[in-house]
Amino acid sequence: MTAIAPTPPVRRQLHTPQPPASPFPYNPGSLLSVQDLTIDDVSHLLFRATVLENLDPLIRDRILLKRRVALLFYESSTRTRTSFELAAKGLGADTTLVSSLSSSIEKGETLKDTGLTLRALGAEAIILRHNSSGAPWLLEEVTRLPILNAGDGMHEHPTQALLDLRTILAHLRYGVETLTAETLNGVTVTIVGDILHSRVARSNMMLLPRLGARVVLCGPPQLLPDSAVNAGAGISVERDFETALRQSQVVMMLRIQAERLAGMQLDLAQYKDAYQLTGQRLAAQAPNAVVMHPGPIIRGLELTAGVADGAQSAILEQVRHGVAIRMAVVERALTKTGKEGHA
Ligand code: CP
Repeated sequence: MTAIAPTPPVRRQLHTPQPPASPFPYNPGSLLSVQDLTIDDVSHLLFRATVLENLDPLIRDRILLKRRVALLFYESSTRTRTSFELAAKGLGADTTLVSSLSSSIEKGETLKDTGLTLRALGAEAIILRHNSSGAPWLLEEVTRLPILNAGDGMHEHPTQALLDLRTILAHLRYGVETLTAETLNGVTVTIVGDILHSRVARSNMMLLPRLGARVVLCGPPQLLPDSAVNAGAGISVERDFETALRQSQVVMMLRIQAERLAGMQLDLAQYKDAYQLTGQRLAAQAPNAVVMHPGPIIRGLELTAGVADGAQSAILEQVRHGVAIRMAVVERALTKTGKEGHA
């Protein structure tokens, strides 16, 4: 994993040395990590997502009228990019997209200089997707703008975890938006596949156990190292897919991230034998489970087309929840002063 997050400065201490308090996020509107959000913050974002979703579009588009939001994307994206853009525009903001393939980034401009340039052009918030873990922290440190992490390397994807949570609540806790540490008690979420390279898995692992869910990680050792047994409270490893499925109310399937395998050899036939979610497996082991996938899905690899399109699939619901969640997150980015006491 490439880590480029700057280290907080170490100050001289007269007393017993204490670890320096993290200065991040510098900007109260930033969303760098799900760890930055309290349970109350998450509740408030879910509440605002519903309010904004149900608001008359002609009223909604005055909330951030003519505010400027930049989308800075160093990696491909369909769902995150489009939903952030629709969300910002739905609130009345002007958006601009800078993609690494059609900008001065191709000529060698650094993230720092691109960020400062966007700020000089009037951007009031930047939504960043980057292939390096930690890039949003660096961009926030140099620009001090609200930065929304739209996926950094193999590290985090906080808005995906929030929209996944909204999808789970819609299915299993209908109507619940005020969250506590017990809201998901009794719910087992199994995350299956390429966990090692997945920022989606990491953000969900950081969020769901705080709400009482049990998270089971399932996959082969190449994609789920043994060290994952120490991932944290409420998280366990189960190598056998059938055993994991039998315990699950939610099954979150992941794509094998070929672009991050870096020479790792994986026998795809063996992988599919052991870990592909087929209609037969689902019917036999988890006939009532909700099937989720952050996308993009690879039909015929991690799951069959029948499962992707089947009655248990919530994959397109996840996509729809993404717009509402990102409206709440963009609104927060441009309106939060840090004195509100919640998200
Ligand atoms: N889930 C997700 O991040 O999809 P995109 O890569 O299409 O944005």
